[in-house]
Amino acid sequence: MKRIGILTSGGDCAGLNPAIYAVAKAIYRKIDDVEIIGILDGYTGLIDLNTKVLKPKDFEGLLTKGGTFLRSIRQSFKTIDVKDENGISKADKIVKNYNKLDLDALVVLGGNGTHKIANLLSERGLNIVGLPKTIDNDIFGTEETFGYDTAVQVGADYIDRIQTTAASHSRVFVVEIMGNKVGWLALSVGVSAGADAIILPEIPYSAEKLNDALKKTLKEKNYAIVVVSEGAFAKEERKMKNKERLSERKLAGFNSIADKVGDDIAKGLGIEIRTAIPGHVLRGGEPSARDRNYTMQLGAVAAGLIADEVYGVTVAKVNGRISFNQLSEIAGKAKPVPEDDSLLLAARSIGISFAD
Ligand code: F6P
Repeated sequence: MKRIGILTSGGDCAGLNPAIYAVAKAIYRKIDDVEIIGILDGYTGLIDLNTKVLKPKDFEGLLTKGGTFLRSIRQSFKTIDVKDENGISKADKIVKNYNKLDLDALVVLGGNGTHKIANLLSERGLNIVGLPKTIDNDIFGTEETFGYDTAVQVGADYIDRIQTTAASHSRVFVVEIMGNKVGWLALSVGVSAGADAIILPEIPYSAEKLNDALKKTLKEKNYAIVVVSEGAFAKEERKMKNKERLSERKLAGFNSIADKVGDDIAKGLGIEIRTAIPGHVLRGGEPSARDRNYTMQLGAVAAGLIADEVYGVTVAKVNGRISFNQLSEIAGKAKPVPEDDSLLLAARSIGISFAD
């Protein structure tokens, strides 16, 4: 009998449950004698040996559900291989428990951090197949991650609602959109929701340029929407001393990135600003139909790789087709929005300002 472990790690998103559903359904059909072991709370479940044997009925109904029924916890790559007082690291415990559970393979659904850890564990001999999950769409080597499409729709719906109240009150709103260090989500949400300006980590920001653009917008209509990616000032933040930071993601002196941009506009144009932050709402709720279809494709290929015993890889969309990459080739690499991205160029050509 084959024993396949499955876990979800890092920040959750819509699409995790359907991806688990797809992997499981396809595994049951491709491998005759198989047992699927659910590992709870991501890698933490392998460190603490918190698992449960899953039966086909456990996967029913997952196709349409948000979140992850296996739950998720972030494990930091920095500490995964640090030895404790007994000389044992978390990675050592994972390897030991993988063998104790007698697993033939481990499926990991996660983002960049998850893939870095997966690569390390693969080098230690674990048979791993990954799936690319994150609302940030920032996994190197795949054109799209699952969870992204749903988050774009949720963000666009959110800003549609901001648009009407902004128009009623002749206001300028700054909306902060998640994305860690990359601007994919802010760009897609901003363009699809008709933002007037979008501030991305990939494009150097000038408050003066933003205010010039807003002055023009406010001559044409009575309100404006500025979308700012949460990572827009990540580079500046990293340069700051720790004590000057409010937190990893907050600029000193402001409660949020949206507040900082709002302050620049308020000072520059002498007007009142409102800010809005959907935050984790972008990760919640039911997966879009597109994400459901996408996870079916990714899951089917992942199950095929397991059946063929192709390990040390992660499923990816490459040139429009579902394929896979070696973990060693993608782990730790970034996928920023390139300056010639077609949506970015389209946005520029219709007059959306990038404050540069
Ligand atoms: O990686 C997904 C993500 O939602 C990022 O966009 C964001 O920076 C981060 O996770 C938030 O993480 P947490 O759930 O730990 O607040």
